[in-house]
Amino acid sequence: TATAAAAAAENRPRISGHRGAAGYAPENTLPSFDKADALGIDWVETDVQRTRDGELVLLHDRDLRRTTNVESVFPSRADRPVGDFTAAELARLDAGSWMGARFAGTRIPTLGQTLDRLDRNGQSLLLEIKQPDLHPGIEGDILDVLARKGWLDGSHVDHRLTVMSFGTNAVRTIHRKRPELKTSVLVTARPSASALRGYAAYADQVNPDYRQVSGDFVAAVHALKGAHGKPLETVPWVVNTASAAREVAGWGADGMTSDLPDMAARALG
Ligand code: G3P
Ligand code: CA
Repeated sequence: TATAAAAAAENRPRISGHRGAAGYAPENTLPSFDKADALGIDWVETDVQRTRDGELVLLHDRDLRRTTNVESVFPSRADRPVGDFTAAELARLDAGSWMGARFAGTRIPTLGQTLDRLDRNGQSLLLEIKQPDLHPGIEGDILDVLARKGWLDGSHVDHRLTVMSFGTNAVRTIHRKRPELKTSVLVTARPSASALRGYAAYADQVNPDYRQVSGDFVAAVHALKGAHGKPLETVPWVVNTASAAREVAGWGADGMTSDLPDMAARALG
């Protein structure tokens, strides 16, 4: 797409919209992906978990309290993890009002609905498997939905999909089951040199909290080859000021994730 091509041609980091465009619309919902699209952002990040009855849904937190009205709909179970609710129960929740009345009625989307919307918008995806330890076997379930929606076909795999997690076992499992998929390890602190080499055996990217790293980390990443034999990449998160966006770009990062992706794109000129 135009944005990706322009960034690559000018060697600028590519911008991904965090949880869609979380600074402007309710995170991890279809309106958030549409908002990113309206801002000209063709790459989005999101978080996937699993319901009690096996549906894959988008949710960042362990439970539903911050981003839905679960406390009024299911008061006795409000603090339970998302995996204690069925898909039908989640469909009763409002996942938009917390961010403003104009988003009232927004639902938690399924992964399948999300992939359809991203296809319609022509957007690429950084798909984070959230809390994989709470959802044993979720990797296979995700691959099933990706296959059903055509996201394991050549062009999606080559250009549009990266699967990532803080859980290295989940990343390794995805790489083992579908070696052709691009993968990413998320880290909260700068990894040691040997940890980085370990990640490069099964991942193409290592994506840190940008505040924990600097230019020498980016250089160390680029000196290694990732799982597919190309230079290991890094897409730091969550870069929400213009000065930080310019700093991360100055390190030579391959991309960055932002709640305000249009701001980050403008900052890089
Ligand atoms: O893109 C990675 C970033 O989303 C990781 O942090 O907490 O927003 O999922 P978090
Ligand atoms: Ca995330």
